[in-house]
Amino acid sequence: MNRFDGFDGLENERFVTPELNRTEYLMDKTLRPQKMEDYIGQTKEKEKLKIFIQAAKMRQEPLDHVLLYGPPGLGKTTLSNIIAHEMNVNIKVTSGPAIERPGDLAAILNNLQENDVLFIDEIHRLNRNVEEVLYPAMEDFNLDIVIGKGPGARSVRIDLPKFTLVGATTRAGQLTSPLRDRFGVICKLELYNHQELAEIVKRSARIMHVDIENPALIEISKRSRGTPRIVNRLLKRVRDYAQVVGDGVITKELATKALDLLEVDKLGLDGVDRKIVMTIMDKFNGGPVGLDTLAASTGEEKITIEDVYEPYLLQLGFLNRTPRGRVLTKYAYEHFNMMYLYHDQEEVL
Ligand SMILES: Nc1ncnc2c1ncn2[C@@H]1O[C@H](COP(=O)(O)OP(=O)(O)OP(=O)(O)O)[C@@H](O)[C@H]1O
Ligand SMILES: [Mg+2]
Repeated sequence: MNRFDGFDGLENERFVTPELNRTEYLMDKTLRPQKMEDYIGQTKEKEKLKIFIQAAKMRQEPLDHVLLYGPPGLGKTTLSNIIAHEMNVNIKVTSGPAIERPGDLAAILNNLQENDVLFIDEIHRLNRNVEEVLYPAMEDFNLDIVIGKGPGARSVRIDLPKFTLVGATTRAGQLTSPLRDRFGVICKLELYNHQELAEIVKRSARIMHVDIENPALIEISKRSRGTPRIVNRLLKRVRDYAQVVGDGVITKELATKALDLLEVDKLGLDGVDRKIVMTIMDKFNGGPVGLDTLAASTGEEKITIEDVYEPYLLQLGFLNRTPRGRVLTKYAYEHFNMMYLYHDQEEVL
């Protein structure tokens, strides 16, 4: 048994996990913005992309290759679809682990139409030998294919249609540098602030025909770890609660009650966040502590701490990164009602 038993499709899944869960897949399609103007937040990256898209269209060329990176659930897949939509081209979607052999990639590339978008999700998980096929394809729009084996083998060059590769990853650091260097546009997606999240919930509520009052929008946003996917998920659960317990209108009071019932922390923190904070507090006296040590002491994977937990703890101002390791701030102590004692971390606050 876990605390999500009874909530549809959420068995065995953390409530504030930014990863997509199974039941969200279909709903996601309707909530996903199709046009740039409906894509909320990420202002800087959006402006940049708009200009590059416009310029490419004026030149009647494909957009330069785009790398989107950032924590899960922030809108990378959404943005790749929007790019194709704004360029008025088709999008072909695949992912790093799905392309097993160079031949698979060659087939995909060969089937693209001029100026199409090829979206490769989790691009950091591409096989090295597949990646090598991608280099000349990205750079010169051609493929070198070896036909035959042994001494009789020969290499044939195939011209490809010009295309835009959009790669998405939560781990830009894991990309090999030759691959990273071949992207002309690199967009880093940041966690969203409360106002942006509130706007996203407002839009989703409208699409779902749910009545929601403004203070409730903020309440849901505050607990969503800066992540649109989570904000939409919380909205759906709060809607269920409002339907059964209230008269369907989501008020602040109702949202608060529903979220408390779901044990979503006021700041969207979950058990793992708490474990990370408490470990640094109790075992390392507030830090500094290195990532490896922290991973070993919490039993969480280093990558998960870095990609999922740390960005939010940093955004909350609970954690600082210093050259000597991670350090808790006084805000973390305040939130957990712990006494903050002066020690040498003070210098970084
Ligand atoms: N800027 C945005 N404005 C409005 N809604 C958004 C925005 N970004 C994301 N969303 C919503 O959040 C959901 C999750 O976004 P998306 O699937 O694009 O994230 P992702 O970054 O691709 O995640 P992952 O790393 O897990 O693949 C979307 O279905 C969409 O409804
Ligand atoms: Mg995605």
